[in-house]
Amino acid sequence: MYHTMLKLFLQYLFISLFLLSSGFCIESDNIIASSVLKDGDTIVSSGKVYRLGFFSPENTTNRYLGIWNNVSAISIIWVANRDKPLNDSTGIVTISEDGDILLLNGKNEIFWSSNVTKSPMNTTAQLLDNGNLVLIDNSNGRNVWESFGHPTDAFMPKLKLNDNPRTGERVLLTSWKTPQDPDYGSFTAGLQALNIPQIFIWNGSRPHWRSGPWNGQILTGVTDMYAVYLDGYSVTKFDDGTVSFMRDYYGKILMKIILKPNGSFVQTMWDVNRRVWNVTWIAPIDVCDVYGKCGPFGNCNLRNSPMCSCLKGYEPKNKEEWDKGNWRGGCVRKTLLQCDRNNNSSDKNKEDVFWKITNVKVPDFMDVSTSLEAEECEGLCLRNCSCVAYSHDPGIGCMFWNRSLIDVRVFPVGGSVLQVRVAYSEIDKKTDIRVIIIVPVTVGLVIVFISVFFAWRWMSKRKGAKRKGRILTYEVGKAYISGSSGVVLRDNIDEASLDELPLFSFEMLETATFQFDVTNLLGKGGFGPVYKHFFDLIHYYSVMEIGSSNFDVSFEENEVGLERTVSVD
Ligand SMILES: *[C@@H]1O[C@H](CO)[C@@H](O)[C@H](O)[C@H]1NC(C)=O
Ligand SMILES: *[C@@H]1O[C@H](CO)[C@@H](O)[C@H](O)[C@H]1NC(C)=O
Ligand SMILES: *[C@@H]1O[C@H](CO)[C@@H](O)[C@H](O)[C@H]1NC(C)=O
Ligand SMILES: *[C@@H]1O[C@H](CO)[C@@H](O)[C@H](O)[C@H]1NC(C)=O
Ligand SMILES: *[C@@H]1O[C@H](CO)[C@@H](O)[C@H](O)[C@H]1NC(C)=O
Ligand SMILES: *[C@@H]1O[C@H](CO)[C@@H](O)[C@H](O)[C@H]1NC(C)=O
Ligand SMILES: *[C@@H]1O[C@H](CO)[C@@H](O)[C@H](O)[C@H]1NC(C)=O
Ligand SMILES: *[C@@H]1O[C@H](CO)[C@@H](O)[C@H](O)[C@H]1NC(C)=O
Ligand SMILES: *[C@@H]1O[C@H](CO)[C@@H](O)[C@H](O)[C@H]1NC(C)=O
Ligand SMILES: *[C@@H]1O[C@H](CO)[C@@H](O)[C@H](O)[C@H]1NC(C)=O
Ligand SMILES: *[C@@H]1O[C@H](CO)[C@@H](O)[C@H](O)[C@H]1NC(C)=O
Ligand SMILES: *[C@@H]1O[C@H](CO)[C@@H](O)[C@H](O)[C@H]1NC(C)=O
Repeated sequence: MYHTMLKLFLQYLFISLFLLSSGFCIESDNIIASSVLKDGDTIVSSGKVYRLGFFSPENTTNRYLGIWNNVSAISIIWVANRDKPLNDSTGIVTISEDGDILLLNGKNEIFWSSNVTKSPMNTTAQLLDNGNLVLIDNSNGRNVWESFGHPTDAFMPKLKLNDNPRTGERVLLTSWKTPQDPDYGSFTAGLQALNIPQIFIWNGSRPHWRSGPWNGQILTGVTDMYAVYLDGYSVTKFDDGTVSFMRDYYGKILMKIILKPNGSFVQTMWDVNRRVWNVTWIAPIDVCDVYGKCGPFGNCNLRNSPMCSCLKGYEPKNKEEWDKGNWRGGCVRKTLLQCDRNNNSSDKNKEDVFWKITNVKVPDFMDVSTSLEAEECEGLCLRNCSCVAYSHDPGIGCMFWNRSLIDVRVFPVGGSVLQVRVAYSEIDKKTDIRVIIIVPVTVGLVIVFISVFFAWRWMSKRKGAKRKGRILTYEVGKAYISGSSGVVLRDNIDEASLDELPLFSFEMLETATFQFDVTNLLGKGGFGPVYKHFFDLIHYYSVMEIGSSNFDVSFEENEVGLERTVSVD
């Protein structure tokens, strides 16, 4: 006892002297059994990226134990005593005799504990460079507890959002109550692994936002995430039934996704040169992205006015409410489907048809049938009376819906194709024979003219761009899984949407490839080094404007479409 006291005293003396003499603090990345972290002190991860210590949110005097990024004390990524603040600065952090991390006030009252050890253990708490605080059992080096397993509101690289449908255990992010109060807010976010994995934000128990299904490469309902920022996500299934959604470590780039008190995910990225956090992604991205905006069988499209409409074959359940803009009631079917029609009616044998809607976030509550070809989905749906829609994704297989088509929205670009089942009579078949001949011929001719015109314009533009030392390229498309080569992009060129695409600056390109780090090189082709990051998990990328002629973009036609390569001379 005396020995420990003396040791502590000497430690303090040493730290104090050091502080007095140099104005710096000795910085360790861990807390061991004999050490005490006082309010005002911090521990810092070995690469000096994250700090653990006490803080007060802006305009408050409450003290919380938290972890923040060293670049700016405002970006807190974890809070220990979020619902039990200290009202003064007497707080200390130490390791209990059992080996737990303890937060005590001046009167030795416990304000927070890692609460994990069952029997006395010799442990060390260590802060890692990815922002994770781990409690290590010194006898075997194993982690017995980690802050990533008990997150606050930040989704960090390497943090696993777990869901175990068997046991119901989940790792959830919970928003702060207000920007000044880290207490549990009403929004939570996490993985829902049942059927096909999807990410949700819930407001209490009600869904607030949905990512759309995970297809093995991307979240199909998140089209506005830029390629470089989407990189590295994975979903892993473990034997015990746990499913994990994780983003792999992203080199030196500092980025985080925070679930804000208003229920929005906001992804930010640290701009080293400008010393600011850039916002790179937000969800929900617009009002249509809010879960179930237009009710069951409704469809939300920002380009329409009003933005809500009923899917083909459906009409508002309550016309009056719908017209007033209360869309939550949704829509109901207009004409019975074939198998629901009276067996005596004359049209009993007229088979149902499918109405195709593109660029959508597919509805919630899908059933999945794996390893099926796209062509098989339609027949399977038709033969099943309870099937009201289907969709196919190469990474998932056929998806079927047998109840409400809820949370359908149309994106300007990207998204999936949904086939909605309608009675044959919903599709207008009354066509004049002259129309049948004249229309296709006219349309064909127009298409030929337009194609020739754009091809000519595109080629001349490209030539011009090259002369000026600027290369413009484009892409909107869909990610397709193609064997081991990762993702191949299929062209979906739409001249009109070009202007809306975000620009990639040289800096962003540079950051994406980590200053053209060799580890990101896929290999050296005829065009020079090829950077892998552009092809990993790309959902769409965009017009790229580069100030010099150091870059080139090459295209290669294959059976899937155009494959693109960015290369550096
Ligand atoms: C923050 O961390 C970086 C390394 O990531 C380091 O270069 C820098 O000095 C640190 N800043 C402070 C204020 O500790
Ligand atoms: C803190 O208080 C100041 C002055 O009252 C105010 O201008 C500022 O907006 C407040 N900050 C926050 C985050 O509320
Ligand atoms: C701070 O909280 C302690 C209990 O945790 C209480 O005894 C004390 O009176 C409080 N002090 C102030 C100034 O509110
Ligand atoms: C510690 O965890 C146990 C269950 O594992 C729980 O009953 C107890 O309330 C927790 N104690 C604290 C201080 O959180
Ligand atoms: C705990 O483990 C550390 C590192 O292995 C060792 O230095 C220390 O003596 C141990 N403490 C006790 C009380 O066993
Ligand atoms: C969240 O739910 C509460 C209570 O149900 C509601 O008042 C609030 O408007 C909801 N917030 C959002 C953003 O939907
Ligand atoms: C929620 O707050 C963030 C900033 O904290 C903001 O960017 C976002 O637009 C807000 N979302 C809504 C729906 O107001
Ligand atoms: C951050 O935003 C600024 C201004 O919008 C932009 O110029 C810069 O390239 C961005 N930095 C990164 C790293 O995305
Ligand atoms: C029509 O007949 C089939 C069997 O032939 C039966 O399954 C179905 O329920 C009948 N439909 C109606 C609306 O009566
Ligand atoms: C259908 O026809 C059968 C006999 O042909 C008749 O008994 C039955 O009532 C009819 N059902 C309806 C709903 O008209
Ligand atoms: C029809 O579809 C539902 C839901 O997709 C499924 O549960 C059911 O097994 C299917 N029935 C048949 C006969 O395939
Ligand atoms: C839809 O299918 C699921 C199982 O795939 C089943 O549990 C549910 O009862 C079905 N709903 C309807 C309305 O048929």
